[in-house]
Amino acid sequence: MAQLLLGQTLSFASNPWHTPIAEAAIHERHGAVLVENGTIRAVGKADDLRAKHPDAKIINHGNHLIMAGFIDAHAHYSQTAIIASWGKRLIDWLNTYTFPEETRFADRTYADQVAETYLDLNLSNGITTACAYCTIHPESVDAYFEAAQKRGLRMLGGKVMMDRNAPDGLRDTAQSGYDDSKALLRKWHNTDRLSYVITPRFAPTSTEIQLEATGALWAEFPDCLMQTHLSEQSEEITWVRELFPDQQDYLAVYEHYGLTGPGAVLGHSIYLSDREWDAVKASGSSLAHCPTSNAFIGSGLFNAKRSHEMHIPTGLATDVGGGSSFSMLRTMASAYEIGQLRGDALHPAQLLWMATQGSADALRLGSKIGNLVAGREADIIVINLASTPVIEQRVARSENFWEQVFPTIMLGDDRAIDTVYINGQPIG
Ligand code: GUN
Ligand code: ZN
Repeated sequence: MAQLLLGQTLSFASNPWHTPIAEAAIHERHGAVLVENGTIRAVGKADDLRAKHPDAKIINHGNHLIMAGFIDAHAHYSQTAIIASWGKRLIDWLNTYTFPEETRFADRTYADQVAETYLDLNLSNGITTACAYCTIHPESVDAYFEAAQKRGLRMLGGKVMMDRNAPDGLRDTAQSGYDDSKALLRKWHNTDRLSYVITPRFAPTSTEIQLEATGALWAEFPDCLMQTHLSEQSEEITWVRELFPDQQDYLAVYEHYGLTGPGAVLGHSIYLSDREWDAVKASGSSLAHCPTSNAFIGSGLFNAKRSHEMHIPTGLATDVGGGSSFSMLRTMASAYEIGQLRGDALHPAQLLWMATQGSADALRLGSKIGNLVAGREADIIVINLASTPVIEQRVARSENFWEQVFPTIMLGDDRAIDTVYINGQPIG
């Protein structure tokens, strides 16, 4: 039976980074979304859709905002339990907190527990799709995808490959990394709503032989995404220069092994040279902006204005647990703050775009999810725009829609997420 969700609605007619906001964003004060069989059938004015679909079941969300679910373009589900670990920069943070925690994922029962917690936290924050790094253990991938499959989620992820500069128990080999990834890819890629992502962690933890095998695997399965980290922190960049003295810069390492191109999702990418920016663009790769992580680990200020000016697909990402929040609202707030530190005041429409359609495009899912338009999968969130006293009193002063939304972006958290629909069904 068709359902008609009523409330304020937000959808995008075009990219608000490239077209004037008033043209790009469509806000209906009294809007409606028609959902049937897990698909959005129509979006429009409440009166029009009620008249056209008198038999649809009405679900009235009042003054709340109905929009596409948030999409996290880069996260580590295996770092859920170590989020907010104090006091380290990237390499020390990996060695002190991350690697010991990831070692625990050899235990399938533990992996299952964390996968469930991770998905619970995502959904309570309105994240309906995420692209996650698992650990080197194939069991960690099975735990993740089985948990997502059970809930009917559209999720992406893959087995981390690392064959050096990681502790015992947390290294594969070029051959086993290739074989295990291929077996997992065959098992999970395009199973229900799941997508396998080829996942070399980053250049410092893979030998040249492993990077070569990874490039070969991706060439065999170009339909898969490939995700890795790029140019996140100064010490890391120095280390890459030492490990790969023949390559002119960090991106060149990935280029050399066939690890750039359409479907490559490059996390962080803060310190790109002009050559690297141009090469990212020319290759058709995507970027993932991880603002809370970049602030928390002290990495630096990603240039979101430049990536959009260059029309590079750019997603927004929590990067949990280097990132310090599961909230995409908090992540947008952090992106705003980083923009301010760069002298760029990002508009709320641009932030919301990055968290939805921008991430979907970066993950090559732009025609399936990420926007409230007919034909998309019905992964929808309903946001309470007055979820706490401080937001409520601020909204009372608002004079337009964007002033109504911005306080929730800056001050909101999971309390603002009123309802989450997965495939048209409300959850929890
Ligand atoms: N670089 C390599 N691995 C990681 C990771 O797990 N988190 C972050 N933030 N950066 C990385
Ligand atoms: Zn990461």
